[in-house]
Amino acid sequence: MSELKYRSPKGVHDVLPADHQYMTYIKKAVRHRARQAGYKRIDPPIFEERALFERGIGSHTDIVEKELFNVGRKGAADTADKDYALRPEFTAGICRSYIEHGMQELPQPVELYAIGPCFRYDRPQKGRYRQFHQFDFEVIGLSDPSIDAQLIHVVWKVFDDLKILRRLNLQINNIGSSDDRKNYVQALKDYFVGKERNLPEKDRERLQTNPLRLLDSKEEDTQILIKMAPTLDQFIHPESKKYHTALLEYLDALGITYTQNTSLVRGLDYYNQTVFEFWDSSTGAQNAVGGGGRYDYLIEQLGGKATPGVGFAGGMERILWHMQEAGVEAPNKDQVDVFVAQLGPEAKKKCLMLVSELRDLGIHTVGALGEASLKSQMRLADRFQARYTLLLGQMEVKEDTIILRDMAAGKQKQMPFSKVVPEIVKLLGAEHLDHYSLMDKFGKFSDPGEG
Ligand code: HAM
Repeated sequence: MSELKYRSPKGVHDVLPADHQYMTYIKKAVRHRARQAGYKRIDPPIFEERALFERGIGSHTDIVEKELFNVGRKGAADTADKDYALRPEFTAGICRSYIEHGMQELPQPVELYAIGPCFRYDRPQKGRYRQFHQFDFEVIGLSDPSIDAQLIHVVWKVFDDLKILRRLNLQINNIGSSDDRKNYVQALKDYFVGKERNLPEKDRERLQTNPLRLLDSKEEDTQILIKMAPTLDQFIHPESKKYHTALLEYLDALGITYTQNTSLVRGLDYYNQTVFEFWDSSTGAQNAVGGGGRYDYLIEQLGGKATPGVGFAGGMERILWHMQEAGVEAPNKDQVDVFVAQLGPEAKKKCLMLVSELRDLGIHTVGALGEASLKSQMRLADRFQARYTLLLGQMEVKEDTIILRDMAAGKQKQMPFSKVVPEIVKLLGAEHLDHYSLMDKFGKFSDPGEG
């Protein structure tokens, strides 16, 4: 066999039909819970100005410093064109959209959700891809612990619907106001004066650019030093502590269990106050299925009026993996109900009409409309795992009959052509048909005559 010429790029996967069953299931849970809680769907563009991500997420974060996918400009001569990058997440784009479209004029908070691909040029490994999918919730316009609690509750419900809640552990922390963080960062820098030499090179750099990242460093030498360092907790203003206590009380009231984790800081710069992540209960921090927090300064930083916000994003590939590990079976809506086999030009024409009629009734129908023998068409029906096969040869056309074969039972019968559609409907059960109807906002069906 010749060698494969093209493969998908490193760290990027096809979402094959079998995985789509899960993806659709996850999206359905997200859409359902989002709508129940008043969220509206938004699709920010897949690429934006690179500066938006630098300013929003932070230029010294791993995501921006190392993982942005730059998008080439059309031509160097086009000076009006900007530097673009593929979105590594949704929050910055959604906040840009909030400002650009004057959403501060809408009743607050504005609740938005998004689902789609994101891109990070990370070193690919299990659960870490260069193209992955997130669902994202954002609540913009109000700052109150009850808003954070409600957001976490919606996420909790989604994981419960997907039957993976018991595999996860909610980690939560309060990282204070930006002033608290500034004071803490200074204290951390002071603490490391004279100790820099003992830090691995990567963390020595981080001490200059983003010292908070030292808290969740995986380096052993750093972890030893951090144990003796001042803790963020000591710098958090009583107001933030009060905020956090209220949030925990609300979570308790909602029956949400959590672990308080004072070293949870998250890898994006825009957070203040509440931060949280859902970890795999067995492996911990690695491969969190989702994370989020409050970002009360982000919109102002992006040029808007000071507006608080809070949000969360879940990683769909990691969630899908958990569902499969937990043995959750996503429904397969792609099964073939009927396979139509035919022989001869007259039969082919009749079958075309029959296939169309069956499909319109919501019966998943595959028509073998090639020239193969009936025997090889039957083999094909088997491979498609069709429940029923309809056979129309020259003889049946002449007699105005058709053969209906039950594939599992291996039994077949000849019947009048005009009776076969109601018979199939009866066999499948009218309630199992895949109906599809477009209704307008008044609940009326669209006029099929309209273009
Ligand atoms: P994040 O923690 O960077 O947060 O990403 C959220 C989730 O996306 C992660 O927990 C993980 O499940 C998934 N994820 C991230 N990178 C990858 C990757 N390379 N491969 C596979 N999955 C990945 C955010 O993105 C924030 N925007 C969340 C947020 C929304 N904060 C406020 N609002």
